[in-house]
Amino acid sequence: MTISVLWGILLSTRVLRRFDNPSWLNDIHAYASGMSILMVLLHMVSLMLDGWLRFSITEVLVPFSAHYRAFPVALGVIAFYLLIAVGGTSLLIKRLPRPFWRTIHYSSYGALILISFHAGFTGTDVGSPWYRWLSLTLIGLASLAIVTRVLVGRSVNRAARPRRDDVIVPRTAPAATASSTAAAAAVPSSPLGGPATPVVSLDGLDLVVVARRRVAEGVVGIRLARADGHPLPVWHPGAHLTLRLPGGLERQYSLTSDPADRQSAEICVRLSPTSEGGSSWIHSTLHEGMRISAVGPSNHFELEPAPSYLFVAGGIGITPILAMIESLPARRDWYLLYIGRSRATMPFAAELLRQYPERVTVFPSDEHALPADLHAFLARGADLVYCCGPESLMDAVAAYVSPERLRIERFVAVVRQSLAGLHSTEVTCRRSKVSFTVPATSSILEEMERHNVPIIGSCRKGVCGTCEVRVLGGVPEHLDSVLDDDRKNDLGIMYPCVSRSSSTELILDV
Ligand code: FES
Repeated sequence: MTISVLWGILLSTRVLRRFDNPSWLNDIHAYASGMSILMVLLHMVSLMLDGWLRFSITEVLVPFSAHYRAFPVALGVIAFYLLIAVGGTSLLIKRLPRPFWRTIHYSSYGALILISFHAGFTGTDVGSPWYRWLSLTLIGLASLAIVTRVLVGRSVNRAARPRRDDVIVPRTAPAATASSTAAAAAVPSSPLGGPATPVVSLDGLDLVVVARRRVAEGVVGIRLARADGHPLPVWHPGAHLTLRLPGGLERQYSLTSDPADRQSAEICVRLSPTSEGGSSWIHSTLHEGMRISAVGPSNHFELEPAPSYLFVAGGIGITPILAMIESLPARRDWYLLYIGRSRATMPFAAELLRQYPERVTVFPSDEHALPADLHAFLARGADLVYCCGPESLMDAVAAYVSPERLRIERFVAVVRQSLAGLHSTEVTCRRSKVSFTVPATSSILEEMERHNVPIIGSCRKGVCGTCEVRVLGGVPEHLDSVLDDDRKNDLGIMYPCVSRSSSTELILDV
């Protein structure tokens, strides 16, 4: 169990990146944890078969019921249940929301501490001084791991998660959001044409611009750090920040630097010819030393572990993919096809070619008579394909790759018609203990806000993923563009800013 926990920490902290940590190392972690559950089960059975101890099944399974040293035995029993929870949720990892899985997974530290006390202080034939010493060493190691992870996790949660008691601030202007890739389309007050609604405001990050540079023609790189000097929250490749700009505008930009650097992170912003105030303000006004507030980082384009990857990037869509490439172990199998208008407009093209000449294909359209041969590139085959760029590129890739293998990040909402037709729906927000009717003229998100349900919306077009909620009952009709619909159903989530319900009632975990 110690091997499994410590190995898991090494894997998640990327300490082993330079030496490559292929997926079979994850398998070792899973195998070690499975073996620890099996060992505990064997241990429990042996206690029942032991003629001297004669534990009953109740004593083995119910904490504090043992006739022999009830307290340390109970610690072992509780640890056993924690191990079962960790193992069970790991088997269901694809079906559970990541934050939930992570929370349960971290309880393995607690299990390690409990088992160490249990092993060191239950007695019988393991009560020797050296065994106690070993037990205390394990407790020390696990405590260190817990302190590290709790401190790190707290800074993530503070920045990225809404709390029930967050303040609700009505805004005079509706929030508008767009991406680094797309022109900032004005976001209507309601996706269905309803009235303007209040927006839930959260304490965000107070950031300062520590550097600004030109990374390509019409593209600036903005390096941001926390104004209070603390490290940035932990983020993973594929994450984006939502910047709050003057005039109530909100814009999302992928983080593009190395996630291991917690002191600062870079975003890249292309000046959109049809900018409505987002990219043009950043290009003209946001300079070194200025402060800006942001929400996040949040991630709906996470790099999942896989033996091999194909990356397809179009223009500024290289930004999240660059962070992914930076974080991959040195010898992991991956290839990148990077398409753009011209070399001059393609950020990081030269650096990528210089660093990975055998893995990167740069395709400036102005140097070729024909479009890039996507089919030939994708025919290489890989376990997962990540694509970010213009809609036409993502649609073309989606035509070749099955949804299970494809991960795309859209910045422009796909036009989706409701098959169920717009009808009123009964919505229950379980944790807020509120029920209400959502009329056909209003979105579920708007009604949630109207009833003071703690939820935040940003783009309100089903693109940014900010308003994600878990579905506890009913059948959502997904009309957003965040994830593949099957994945959302597997995860049991929906995006209520645009999605509706196929059933007459929805029960949401908020
Ligand atoms: S607010 Fe952006 S997806 Fe719902």
